[in-house]
Amino acid sequence: MAKPKSIFVCQQCGSKSSKWIGKCPACGEWNTYVEEIEQKTNSRSGVSAFTPDKSVAHRIADIDLAEEKRISTLNNEFNRVLGGGLVPGSLVLIGGEPGIGKSTLLLQVALAMNNIEVLYITGEESLQQIKMRAARLNPDSDNCTILPETQLETIFIHLASIKPNIIIIDSIQTLHTEKIESSPGSISQIRECTNQILQYAKTTAVPVLLIGHITKDGSIAGPKILEHVVDTVLQFEGDQNHMYRILRSVKNRYGSTSELGIYEMQNTGLREVSNPSELLLSNFDVQLSGVAISSAIEGIRPFLIEIQALVSSAAYGTPQRSSTGFDLRRLNMLLAVLEKRAGFRLATKDVFLNIAGGIKVNDPAIDLSVICAILSSNQDVLIGKDVCFSGEVGLAGEIRPVNRIEQRIKEAEKLGFSYIVISEYNKKGIDFTKYKIKIVFVKKVGDILKKFF
Ligand code: TYD
Ligand code: MG
Repeated sequence: MAKPKSIFVCQQCGSKSSKWIGKCPACGEWNTYVEEIEQKTNSRSGVSAFTPDKSVAHRIADIDLAEEKRISTLNNEFNRVLGGGLVPGSLVLIGGEPGIGKSTLLLQVALAMNNIEVLYITGEESLQQIKMRAARLNPDSDNCTILPETQLETIFIHLASIKPNIIIIDSIQTLHTEKIESSPGSISQIRECTNQILQYAKTTAVPVLLIGHITKDGSIAGPKILEHVVDTVLQFEGDQNHMYRILRSVKNRYGSTSELGIYEMQNTGLREVSNPSELLLSNFDVQLSGVAISSAIEGIRPFLIEIQALVSSAAYGTPQRSSTGFDLRRLNMLLAVLEKRAGFRLATKDVFLNIAGGIKVNDPAIDLSVICAILSSNQDVLIGKDVCFSGEVGLAGEIRPVNRIEQRIKEAEKLGFSYIVISEYNKKGIDFTKYKIKIVFVKKVGDILKKFF
């Protein structure tokens, strides 16, 4: 057997070095090198924990697609984010900060699938802890087996006898294989364990859901390296102080990556939010300036979100700009557009922007409502509660058209808005007479000023 060799591995990107380095030359991160002992086993003579059958090459025309039937999880939001259910043999990674609700989500999904045998492998919690949680989520369910085990070779022995239909592993960072000597959670362990699980999933067609930890500073050997190996990466995010949780698809070999699932954390688990607009609009009776509603789309679903802005005189020399849920650079750009094209002296003002509900939105169509919220706060002029906006703002101050405008209009109409402000350039080829909601067309930032302020 080869002598164990000590090497240093970047816990961020996985590059190796024979000596410790402060800054990783590959990914540029600081202080990420950790000493690991890597034991080289000869993969041919060494006994692998799982040996797949001999591989056979197939012509693409001969491959049968009929087997690729998805397993529905009975959780609509989860299904949609996956692209329509779990694909047999797929490896799904769910990442998120500690305490966000990853274990809760997967246990809940597991307990809901009442005629499918699910094996929940836990390295983090005791049987009693899981039982307590299960009793809260779904006390009558009887399809789930819990295995408290972290040793990969032992897990494979259990798998051979239990033969589950779906496997959940909580979490990948706690697993370790005896092939490698470094501690659980290190990059080499994670990589080796994931590869073996991947082989198992592909050959038995059992889908595996992995939970992966991330921390704010990314110091744990993170799911980053896993992302290449797995089929689907889901990100579970949300503000811990808010009750909403968003499940976002970051990578998906079997579906769209722009999907979004919204949940609300309750004391009986995560409730699916099928109509997000109602949640994301705050229901203040008193009207305030600095608030504008936007008709946005994430994935395939339109919803209305509330943008709040506060503009006040800068107390110190350099004005502050801060935003929650919206890209700060984009905010700075919109402020520059307002300054240049609409003559606003915002350079002497602090600007704070917030998307209500603690969610993050990437849709450029919310630009228009961002500038309206800022102008509204700056001028202290109210924007009517029955108006919403949908448009992108360009550098020249033009209001650019956005995609799927009809869906946005329909959503606004459904929620009882009387006016929607959109780009003049969205007019082409659409029959707007069929809508009850009044549509206001604008061409440039100046038009907004004239109409609302
Ligand atoms: P958990 O799933 O343990 O988070 P993770 O696995 O991502 O670390 O969930 C943590 C939080 O969820 C915890 O702070 C309590 C809350 N929670 C509820 O509010 N209601 C519930 O029914 C459950 C099970 C958890
Ligand atoms: Mg957990």
